Amino acid sequence: MFVVGGSASQQLSKELAKCLKGRLAKVEMKRFPDDECYVRIDEDLDGEDVFLVQTTWPDKNIIELFLLQDAIKEFDVLSLTTVVPYFGYARQDKQFKSGEPISARALAKLIQLKTDEFMTVDVHAPTVIDWFEDVSAKNVPGYPAVGRFLKGKGVQLVLSPDEGRADNAKRVADVVGCEADFLVKERLDGETVHITPKSLAVKGKKVAIVDDIISTGGTIAKAAESLKEQGASRILAVCTHGVFAGEALKRLGAVCDEICSTDTIENPTTCISVASEIARVAKD
Ligand code: R5P
Repeated sequence: MFVVGGSASQQLSKELAKCLKGRLAKVEMKRFPDDECYVRIDEDLDGEDVFLVQTTWPDKNIIELFLLQDAIKEFDVLSLTTVVPYFGYARQDKQFKSGEPISARALAKLIQLKTDEFMTVDVHAPTVIDWFEDVSAKNVPGYPAVGRFLKGKGVQLVLSPDEGRADNAKRVADVVGCEADFLVKERLDGETVHITPKSLAVKGKKVAIVDDIISTGGTIAKAAESLKEQGASRILAVCTHGVFAGEALKRLGAVCDEICSTDTIENPTTCISVASEIARVAKD
C-alpha cells in the first residue's frame, strides 16, 4: 500500500504512511515558469491500494489534487482513497445570495470523479459528505487527537466559541477528563461585548477554546480577552484547521498563551497529528 502526499500535506502523509504501515510514494512536484503545476509519481502503483493526501487550500492545491488523482488512476491501482484533510470552501455550503455557487458542492462533485473512496477531517458542513453520491465518503473526527493533546497540557476547562460547537467541546473535554461549556456573547453597549461561559467560571483555570477553523482569529481573540479579564490563568487557542488568514497569529498571540492546530493545514502552530484518527477510520 502506498501513500501519495500532495505538497499541502507532506507531514501528515508521512505520519499516515507510518500508521497504515504503507510506503510513502516518491512524487515529483514542481511549477512551470508560467506557474502551471507538474506532477509525476516515481513508483509503480499497479495492484496497490493508494491513499492520496492533499488539503484543498489554498486554491493552487486543488488543481494539484486533480492532477495527482489523474496520475494515480493511470496505474492499474486496486483502490484509490482521496483524503482531503482540510476541505476548503466548506463554509460556502449554500447560496447565501442568489447568483452564488454552492462552492463546497462544486468541489465535492469534481473530487469524486477520480477516486474510489473519500475521507476528510472535521468537515465544517456535514452536508459535504452527502454530496459524495458516487463513492463512499467519511468524515474523520479530530476530537480524540485534540483531547489527548490537551490532556497532556493539564487543561481544566474546554470551551467552544458558541453553542453550535458545544457538542465537540464536550467530546474533547471527555477525552481530557474535565468540564466543558460554551461561550455566550452579551452586547453591553455599541462598542463593548462581554463574552462569558454559559454556566462555569474560568477564574484561576487553564482554559482551552476549541474551534474547528481559525481564520481571522477574531472569534477566539475576543473570547480570550474577556476570559483573561474574568481571571483565566492560561488560555490555549486550539483548532483542527489553522487557516490563520492575514494577521491572525499576531492577533491571537497578543491574548492567548498558546496557539495549537492539527496537521490538516501545516503551519507553524501545528502540534497535533490526526494521522492515527484517519488510519483508524480507514481500517473500519
Ligand atoms: C464558524 O462557523 C467557524 O466554526 C469558526 O468559528 C470561524 O470560521 C472562525 O473564524 P474567525 O477565525 O475568522 O473568527
